[in-house]
Amino acid sequence: MTLRRSALAGLAIAALLVAIGATATLHAADEAPATPPAHNHDEPVIESQSWSFNGPFGTFDRAQLQRGYRVYHDVCSTCHSMRLLSYRNLGETGGPEFPKDAVEALAAQAEMTDGPNDKGEMFKRPGRPSDRFRQPFPNPETARVANNGALPPDLSVMAKAREGGPDYIHALLTGYRDPPAGFKPAPGMHYNKAFPGHQIAMPPLLSDGVVTYTDGTKPTVDNYARDVAAYLMWTAEPKLEERHKLGLRVMVFLIAFAVIMYLAKRAVWARMHGHAAPTA
Ligand code: HEC
Repeated sequence: MTLRRSALAGLAIAALLVAIGATATLHAADEAPATPPAHNHDEPVIESQSWSFNGPFGTFDRAQLQRGYRVYHDVCSTCHSMRLLSYRNLGETGGPEFPKDAVEALAAQAEMTDGPNDKGEMFKRPGRPSDRFRQPFPNPETARVANNGALPPDLSVMAKAREGGPDYIHALLTGYRDPPAGFKPAPGMHYNKAFPGHQIAMPPLLSDGVVTYTDGTKPTVDNYARDVAAYLMWTAEPKLEERHKLGLRVMVFLIAFAVIMYLAKRAVWARMHGHAAPTA
């Protein structure tokens, strides 16, 4: 009997612990991987930024994702592909949620190569929402030739592929400086304080005002970097909001379950109150 009693109590405690554990895990999944402390002045220091999508209940800021797409489209898409994205994704729930006609207009801005037609020729047509994002270069070789031998990586999952995630992307885009005395970047390379080794083939591209914002946000390099980093976080994890919602439901369920288990245990054992447990 004592065994059964403690088993029931144990179950209630276990359910509570699972609820607490789930909260912690959910939270941990959102934390950008910790950046190790800098040991010497050569190691890049990546500052943590505050993001609307952090924390177990975080959501994306729609307007920020829309601005981030603008920055990607106007600046980054000249060199970087996003092979995993289709224009229709821009209108889906949990993302920038552009209205349907805006998605069609954004897709139509891209000139796509299609075909062959019945004469066996390839032809150009405006993009459709079902098209994958237009790629800036037909193949990696052309991309390298255009970039001084360096390959601009695909950005679809970049925010998950680098330590520091969106913090790193923000730091990288705002990290261009004049090289310190005695540091001479190789020809065609640029000094960047956030990039490992501090020499990057990507030139500084952002300057205040290069992308037009229509929602009143200040068109500064810092805002461009922040918005495009948030946008890249969404492309890397388009189901983030869904995951957070599910996590919340699971937590509510587990907490309710723990309470029910506790009440059940009390009800079952109330009758035995004051009685000594039978010995055999
Ligand atoms: C003129 C071409 C060009 C444009 C435009 C460009 N990049 Fe790059 N980018 C590159 C090249 C080349 C590399 C590879 C750098 C290297 O390995 O040294 C790169 C690398 C990167 C990396 C990876 C860095 C790493 O840790 O390996 C990120 C992230 C990135 N770019 C983001 C962006 C974003 C965001 C934009 C738009 C604001 C952008 N880039 C615009 C050429 C470009």
